Amino acid sequence: MISTAAKKEIDQWIKKYPEDWKSSAVMQALKIVQKENNNFLTEELINDVASYLDMPPIAVAEVATFYENFNHKPVGKHVIRFCHTISCMLNGADDLIKYTEKKIGAKVGEVSKDGLVSIKKVECLGACRHAPMFQIDDKYYEDLTKEKIDLILEDLK
Ligand code: FES
Repeated sequence: MISTAAKKEIDQWIKKYPEDWKSSAVMQALKIVQKENNNFLTEELINDVASYLDMPPIAVAEVATFYENFNHKPVGKHVIRFCHTISCMLNGADDLIKYTEKKIGAKVGEVSKDGLVSIKKVECLGACRHAPMFQIDDKYYEDLTKEKIDLILEDLK
């Protein structure tokens, strides 16, 4: 069920588009309801967003499953989205992913025991020039090394 506060926020996005184009707010609506639900979407929430935006549930599900920033199972408070596409891969991403897994004590797709962080492998995030890179929540971290990763992980609270 979408909360009143979330509906209010979604309405602000709907207003940005021409009348009868409420569906244009689907990405933001999913982002808002995901944030309220401990950072992951359920089938019920996807259906609720569809109903709120007058969209077929399958159309909302297609958006929710296409983009890597939507989660479909519980995740950590922070989500590391580690790029493993060509530029990052050629610059050592696979090794750094293994290093990060060891540091947080959780494999790709898992949540650390303290619930603080989880890690996902994602496709190119458009920062290839600064490969290898990952995104944590909304922030990019580029030109990663093991030393940089140590400092970044130490700062996570
Ligand atoms: S290949 Fe990693 S950001 Fe593009």
